Amino acid sequence: MRLAGKKALVTGAARGIGLGCAKLMAQHGCDVVITDIDISAANQVTEGVSDHAAIALDVTDKQAWTSAIEQARKLMGGINVLVNNAGIIIPGTVEELDEASWDRTMDVDLKSVYLGCQAALPVLSQNAPASIINIASISSMIASPNFAAYNAAKAGVHMLTKSVALHAARSHPGVRCNSIHPAFVDTGMVDQVAKSDDPEINRSKLARQIPLGRIATVEDVAWAVVYLASNESSFMTGSELKLDGGVSAM
Ligand code: NAI
Repeated sequence: MRLAGKKALVTGAARGIGLGCAKLMAQHGCDVVITDIDISAANQVTEGVSDHAAIALDVTDKQAWTSAIEQARKLMGGINVLVNNAGIIIPGTVEELDEASWDRTMDVDLKSVYLGCQAALPVLSQNAPASIINIASISSMIASPNFAAYNAAKAGVHMLTKSVALHAARSHPGVRCNSIHPAFVDTGMVDQVAKSDDPEINRSKLARQIPLGRIATVEDVAWAVVYLASNESSFMTGSELKLDGGVSAM
């Protein structure tokens, strides 16, 4: 029960990494509210994970953030963990990507974190000790020719995390902010970046790029989220946690 007394809002939690984080956090005693743009998918996964109905939250929508934070605060009697997880990838080189794809990636992957931190900080402050956890990517530090917008957006999340951490340290005592940087994780997103229609081929191809010889599981990421959400990490803020199977060590 490493998260007893913690109250978390997780974005993009209807599937993938967000759902994996919500499940492991709940297993460790955390009260969790699941949010997603896809509210029907979100409502289907709450059983056994959350005591509350899921909340519809498009992370690019400022009004939706205000409303979701207020709803979650009422449901749980406060919020002291925010997991900014929702994200998309639209592969493409700088020459291939159209402007709409660039803007959409920036909105969902980067602006969302700005909106979420802005909306949540006053409530997190009232419920400190509190923690903001931003799911960035190793793509914030290692570029690919085909990830022009994603690389740029995740690099933005990396540095925004540090700015939020320093602001919170000064203005919201007890509120921390850190980022997590996974390499490939076994979710539907990897099929969008790998070329084959066969999920097994995709995963084994990607695994060959990783020194540990496999891609990450959602649980690999969720354990890091549990640590950052808990008071075990109380001296950690403005930091990045790389979960990349050694790829950035090369
Ligand atoms: P996923 O595609 O499996 O799940 C993403 C979830 O976000 C979905 O439930 C989707 O409905 C939701 N979502 C999409 N747009 C949204 C919006 N505008 N507002 C609210 N929710 C929205 O993706 P996955 O793999 O679970 O990714 C989660 C996070 O982890 C993303 O930020 C991603 O960039 C990051 N990440 C993923 C890696 C991977 O290989 N899967 C590696 C490194 C980072």
